Amino acid sequence: MSEVQAKAPKRILILGATSGMAEQCGRLWAERGDALFLVARSSDKLAAVAADLKNRGASFVDSAVADLDDTNHHPELLAHAINSLGGLDVAFVVMGALGSQEAAEKHFPDAHRLLHTNYVAPASLLTWLANYCAQRHAGTLAVVSSVAGERGRKSNYVYGSAKAGLTAFTDGLRNRVDREGVKVMTIKPGPVKTAMTQGMKGQEKFADVEVVAATLVKQIDKGTDVVYVPGIWRIIMAVIRAIPERIFKKLNL
Ligand SMILES: NC(=O)c1ccc[n+]([C@@H]2O[C@H](COP(=O)([O-])OP(=O)(O)OC[C@H]3O[C@@H](n4cnc5c(N)ncnc54)[C@H](OP(=O)(O)O)[C@@H]3O)[C@@H](O)[C@H]2O)c1
Repeated sequence: MSEVQAKAPKRILILGATSGMAEQCGRLWAERGDALFLVARSSDKLAAVAADLKNRGASFVDSAVADLDDTNHHPELLAHAINSLGGLDVAFVVMGALGSQEAAEKHFPDAHRLLHTNYVAPASLLTWLANYCAQRHAGTLAVVSSVAGERGRKSNYVYGSAKAGLTAFTDGLRNRVDREGVKVMTIKPGPVKTAMTQGMKGQEKFADVEVVAATLVKQIDKGTDVVYVPGIWRIIMAVIRAIPERIFKKLNL
């Protein structure tokens, strides 16, 4: 029996279930028989992902269509999802939007949308989920931030600043609820081949999403505090953070 098959089934809530990373993680979870609740905003894509995960062996699949930018509906949505799953072992907060840095520089409403989707909306989900898990002294909140949050760069600092906020939020939340028996994970991917990076220069050199998902599923089982994926990005970002500002500000990054 493989390591994946030997794990006990888990109740997993995926927020942003049609994302490339979520879809691949979902396949691995389905293949070992986990129970899944999927949330995404595109009903067509969501129906296709749900059918695929059911076919691959998930013990239970339910879903809800929701625009996760709508924070007013988070409490109702999360309570419904957890009720449908019959409890919660893992919440995978994976939605995000890269958007257009150029548009965000010219027009603040575009920047505001990016800040909202990548920081405010996940912070709202995590506030409710952390309180739910803390009351029960159980659960893993696996949150996808980004290496882009480690140092602002001219090519994507609006998105990066939201991810920096999300990283700090998860760091603080972990410090608050770890003692309550709740695991909070900060996941920092480097560039990955998904719809988000489609058409970007050099995309062929980015990490394969299947490889990234295999790492994430393993690390989520362990509840590792901070995950760089691929792992080399821990070293790359340490170097980037160490570049003195007087040099960094002149680089085209
Ligand atoms: N790919 C990379 O290189 C990379 C690197 C570092 C971090 N990340 C992060 O990894 C996570 C997964 O991204 P990915 O690479 O898998 O890209 P992706 O395939 O583009 O996934 C992003 C997902 O977020 C969903 N989403 C965005 N706004 C939403 C909203 N308001 N309500 C509901 N769903 C919403 C999108 O839904 P729609 O399909 O409906 O638009 C999409 O399914 C994101 O948080 C991203 O920031 C990605």
